[in-house]
Amino acid sequence: MRAYYFDNLPGDQRAPHDYVPSQPVDASALAKMSVLSWHISVEGYESQVDAIARERGYKNRDTINVSKEGMGEVYEAKIKGFFEEHMHEDEEIRYILSGSGFFDVRETPSDAWIRIAVAPGDLLVLPAGIYHRFTLDETDAIKALRLFQDEPKWVPHARSQATDVNVHRVGYLQAIGVGA
Ligand SMILES: [Fe+2]
Repeated sequence: MRAYYFDNLPGDQRAPHDYVPSQPVDASALAKMSVLSWHISVEGYESQVDAIARERGYKNRDTINVSKEGMGEVYEAKIKGFFEEHMHEDEEIRYILSGSGFFDVRETPSDAWIRIAVAPGDLLVLPAGIYHRFTLDETDAIKALRLFQDEPKWVPHARSQATDVNVHRVGYLQAIGVGA
């Protein structure tokens, strides 16, 4: 996993959008935003993923497979949808089995995007209330485990004045020591 500030230049969302020179963001800076990550080799990943799932109370999981090849014409519309800025009222937990992509997370209060490039073996936890978006990269394929506690709460709440005062958003800002 590699993280860096997104360059905000126009162009294909699937391009790296890395500044030249790159402005890297390390794991400790992400942890201060309550973004957690692990790297667990895909070969024999089950026991280590299971251990983290047990510790964090992720009882259930399923697999998501997104690819240009598999989806045909709806692919472009689908990935534009993933790329709309939103938050959830629960954690978003992904373990990458194959392929790759980018999770962009909003830094607060700067409002800068930080791009997190994920690859096989990366386990990423985005906290409830963080503004984020996702895109596949130029390989146009990703397969990932989605982990969750009881039932999936993946309703995306598009960023708005209403989400700015959502209890999960406010709780997130308090947890990272930003805001009221
Ligand atoms: Fe999301």
